[in-house]
Amino acid sequence: MKEVKSLEEFIKGIPKAELHLHIEGTFEPELMFEIAKRNHVKIKYSTVEEIKSAYNFSNLQDFLDIYYAGAQVLLTEQDFYDLTWAYLEKIHAENVIHTEIFFDPQTHTGRGIKFSTVINGIHRALEDGRTKLGINSKLIMCFLRHLDEESAFKTLENAIEFKKWIDGVGLDSSELGHPPSKFQQVFEQARRQGFLTVAHAGEEGPAEYIWEALNLLKISRIDHGNNALNDEKLLKELVNKKMPLTICPLSNLKLQVVKDLKEHPLKKLMDHGILATINSDDPAYFGGYMVENYIAISKALNLSKEDIYILAKNSFIASFLEEEVKKDMIERVDRYYKENK
Ligand code: ADE
Ligand code: ZN
Repeated sequence: MKEVKSLEEFIKGIPKAELHLHIEGTFEPELMFEIAKRNHVKIKYSTVEEIKSAYNFSNLQDFLDIYYAGAQVLLTEQDFYDLTWAYLEKIHAENVIHTEIFFDPQTHTGRGIKFSTVINGIHRALEDGRTKLGINSKLIMCFLRHLDEESAFKTLENAIEFKKWIDGVGLDSSELGHPPSKFQQVFEQARRQGFLTVAHAGEEGPAEYIWEALNLLKISRIDHGNNALNDEKLLKELVNKKMPLTICPLSNLKLQVVKDLKEHPLKKLMDHGILATINSDDPAYFGGYMVENYIAISKALNLSKEDIYILAKNSFIASFLEEEVKKDMIERVDRYYKENK
């Protein structure tokens, strides 16, 4: 007789893609201590417990202050390799077979680290992930929206030399007061150079920022997008355009975008016909990688195996994978669901 998988086992086993993941947000305290020691960099905390107890955020900015401080420890190409490799090993154990990773070059170039140091380390780990772990990947370079557009233009210029390794550009950091319109020109230039575009919008910011990301930045996906639920017309537009949302449940909880996961808009968005996906955002800071995110939101919203199957399938539909590879991965999800529902 066929063994019936528990919801947790079903979630762990289903092939998944991650589409919203900041590599600097995967920096686990243990690795942070190790790298700080070998680089002779002082950090504010002396134990893992101390660091973890500092991870009590009341909003996005609270978190970003700690996240940027943690990234200061990263100095060499090997540091960026180790950071990326540690993440790939984690998701390998969770059946994440494709990942689209954000990196924030300005966080590093702003303190004198070369763009090439950052990207060489990340890229080498992604290549090893492909050959040693069988994990497919894409790389998305984010502009920090609290900085000016001129700095974003300089970053885009730095990226040209590494264009073959970068699939898209994105927009992250402090959302309120920094609308997508601030970056309209640099996104236009990026698109002209062949980059796909995404942007964080509607995490803390209003639905208006999502409209701007759509109409001015011509994005292919919205990162977060929770606040779309406040605007009926926008919801219709997103459904018509089959515009994916990269939802991050544990991030939303930790940053108090929602007070309780039971109030999370995911299911309502899905019921409206939105192409939603589940992602971990900054797993080292928010208490969980992909499987923990799927489990937490499934329990809070009473999701069924069919819901989880749809979410996993959506993650490939919304990916930047080449059509043939995408089709192949979707077939793997379909087969898994048929055999384990
Ligand atoms: N950078 C890292 N995580 C982020 C998030 N959740 N929102 C905006 N910027 C970020
Ligand atoms: Zn994010």
